Amino acid sequence: MAAVGSAVGLGNIWRFPYICGKYGGGAFLLVYLCFAFGIGMVLMMSEFVIGRRSRHTPMRAFASLSPRRKGWRYIGLLGIVTCFFILSQYFVISGWTLSYFFDAVTGRLATMGQDAAAIGCYFTEFSTSASRPVVFLTVFALLTAVVILCGVQKGIEAVSKVLMPVLVVLLVVLCIRSLTLPGASRGLSYLFSPDFSKLSAEGVLAALGQAMFSLSVGMGVMIVYGSYIPASDDLFRTSMWITASDVLIAVLSGVAIFPAVFSCGLEPAGGPGLSYCVLPNVFNSMGGVTGVVFSAIFFLLLSIAALTSSISLLEALSAWLVETLRTRRFVSTLIIVAAEIALASIVSLSNGMWSHLQVGGDTFFDFVDRLNSIYLPPLCAFGTVLFFAWVMPEADVRDELTNHGVLRAVYYPVFRFIVRWLAPLALVVVFLTSILT
Ligand code: PFF
Repeated sequence: MAAVGSAVGLGNIWRFPYICGKYGGGAFLLVYLCFAFGIGMVLMMSEFVIGRRSRHTPMRAFASLSPRRKGWRYIGLLGIVTCFFILSQYFVISGWTLSYFFDAVTGRLATMGQDAAAIGCYFTEFSTSASRPVVFLTVFALLTAVVILCGVQKGIEAVSKVLMPVLVVLLVVLCIRSLTLPGASRGLSYLFSPDFSKLSAEGVLAALGQAMFSLSVGMGVMIVYGSYIPASDDLFRTSMWITASDVLIAVLSGVAIFPAVFSCGLEPAGGPGLSYCVLPNVFNSMGGVTGVVFSAIFFLLLSIAALTSSISLLEALSAWLVETLRTRRFVSTLIIVAAEIALASIVSLSNGMWSHLQVGGDTFFDFVDRLNSIYLPPLCAFGTVLFFAWVMPEADVRDELTNHGVLRAVYYPVFRFIVRWLAPLALVVVFLTSILT
C-alpha cells in the first residue's frame, strides 16, 4: 500500500491528464499502458530485487551487490541526487495544491465564478507571489516529515493504509459527478477512442517518461521500499498490483477530468495549469455549495496523493542519511527537510520575485524541471538497469525472484530480455532524443 502511495501522486492526477490531453488522448493512453507494464513495471521489479537482496539504501545496495566494482555505488548516489531535486519541485506543486484546497474550502475559488480569465489570473498571481506558496510548501514539507518521524510502520504504513482507500473513494465520487454532467460522453470518447494520427514521436517518448515518473522508478525510491519487503512476498505479483493500481488511478483521473472539461466547453490540452486554471471553472459551473464541495474534494484528493508520494521521496533521502552518517532518524529527517524547504523556496521564488535567477537561460524552476524530467531519471534508470542486468550475478536475481526456488517465475526469459536489451535501448533513445531536440 505504501508503494502504491508512492506511485499514485501528482503524476497521476495532475500530470497524466494534461500530458494525455497534450498528446492526443486515447492513442497516448494505449502507448502509456504498454510502457507502464512493459518497461516501468520491469524497472520496478529490478529496483525491488536490488533493495530486498541487499537490505540497504541505494548507494550501499549497489556497493554490497558487486563488492569488487564499488564504482557502481555512484549510480545510487545519482538516485539520491535525483530524489533531492524531484522532492524540491514536488513540494512546490504540493504547496499549490494545499493552498487551493484552502481556497476551495473557504469559498475563495467559488467567488471567481465562471470567469476563466480571473481564474487564470489568480493562478499566475498566486504562483508568482513570494510568501503564500512558500508558506504552503513549508507546511506540506513539515506534514511529510511528521509521518516519516513516526517510523516506517507506524508512520508510512499506517498513513498509506488509511489514505489510499480514502483517495479511491474521493476519486470515484468525482468520476460519478463528472459522468453525469451533460455532454460527458465526448470526454470519454476523447480518452478512450485512440486516434493514432494525433500521436507524435514526441508523444511516445513522453509516454515512457510519464510511465517511469508515475511508477516512481529511476531514482532509487523503490530500492529503499524493496529493502523493507518481507522475504516471502512475490516481487512479480507485488509489482503487478502496484502498476495496475497506478494505471487505474491515472485512467480514473482522466474519467473524472475530461468529461467535465468537455461539458464546460473548455480545452483538454490545458497544460500544467489544467488542474489549477481549467478545473476551478468546471467546479464553479456546478454552482453554489455543490461546486465548493466538489472542488474541496478534488484538491483534498490531490493533496493526499501528493503526500504519500512525498513521503516515499523523503523516506529514501532520510534512510540514506541514516545509513551514511549513522545519525538518528530524527536528526537525518530534520536535516533533509530543512534543506528541501530551502531549495523548494528558491524554486518557488524563481517563478516570480527571483526570476532573474537563471541557469543556462532558464529560470531556476524550469532548470529544475529540466533536470527532473529530461536528465536525471533516465540516466539513473539506465545505470540501474545496466547494473541489474549485466553486473549483478544472475543467480542472485533468480533467487530473489523465485524466493529461493519456491516460486516458478515463468515470466523470467521475457523479463531477462527486457532488462538486458529493451529497457536500456528505450532509455538511451529517450535520453538522446530529449537532449538533442
Ligand atoms: N510517482 C509519483 C507521482 O506519480 O506523482 C512521483 C514520484 C514519487 C516520483 C516518488 C518518484 C518518486 F521516487
